[in-house]
Amino acid sequence: MNIVITGASSGIGAALASSLASEHRILAIARSAKALEELAALHSNIVAFPADISKLTESQFSSCLNSAGWTNVDVLVNNAGLLINKPFLNLTDADWQEVYQTNVLAVAHLIRLTFPYLKKSKSPHIVNISSMGGVQGSVKFPGLSAYSSSKGALTILTECLAEEFKEENIRVNTLALGSVQTPMLAKAFPGYQASLNPAEMAKMISWFVTEGSGFFNGKTIPVASETP
Ligand SMILES: NC(=O)c1ccc[n+]([C@@H]2O[C@H](COP(=O)([O-])OP(=O)(O)OC[C@H]3O[C@@H](n4cnc5c(N)ncnc54)[C@H](OP(=O)(O)O)[C@@H]3O)[C@@H](O)[C@H]2O)c1
Repeated sequence: MNIVITGASSGIGAALASSLASEHRILAIARSAKALEELAALHSNIVAFPADISKLTESQFSSCLNSAGWTNVDVLVNNAGLLINKPFLNLTDADWQEVYQTNVLAVAHLIRLTFPYLKKSKSPHIVNISSMGGVQGSVKFPGLSAYSSSKGALTILTECLAEEFKEENIRVNTLALGSVQTPMLAKAFPGYQASLNPAEMAKMISWFVTEGSGFFNGKTIPVASETP
């Protein structure tokens, strides 16, 4: 399969790219060129594409796919994310814009850019990576209003797109993850030790991105065994 993974320079995205690269071709996107080059040096199936998903243009994206020799995309994993941990009253407009730009607007933008390539796949799947904090009725934590609400938006986007993309047979799902030990978790819950590391969570996500479209569409699936 041809799989695009955003946020592949760190944490869960890097582990997911490594886990899938033994059997699939991966386009790994993030801003940190060095981290992506290091990942690509370890796996011949990984192509590094250093880019800011908020600023990615259609021509940059298509020339990258062309030079990788891809004519279609089977799976888009919208994993890149940004968390700002601040009490609601201290969050500035710029904070809200940055969080929503990365976690919501860039996701919509990348789905639009990828759509023509997904249409050429036999079993296209879009997987959005959300958080338990973005699930209605889950336990909430102070400081995470911008982050958690932006992740909540992915659930509704997922439901809308599953409907809109039915004719094209493009399946759209969201995984709402619980804690995984990464730099982002350390920002959200300093000092907290999660029971899962990125490689362990990547195993589950790998199965889901390649097989999950046969079982789910328009769904947000919680993947959590602890709180937070
Ligand atoms: N860790 C957890 O406990 C947990 C729980 C629930 C959900 N999640 C979700 O899982 C996903 C991965 O998080 P993580 O914990 O692995 O965090 P992480 O280690 O901080 O990784 C975040 C990734 O997003 C990339 N990124 C951020 N802004 C970007 C931009 N504008 N353009 C391109 N790439 C960008 C970063 O790369 P660059 O900085 O190189 O651009 C990095 O690769 C996120 O969506 C997060 O919300 C994590």
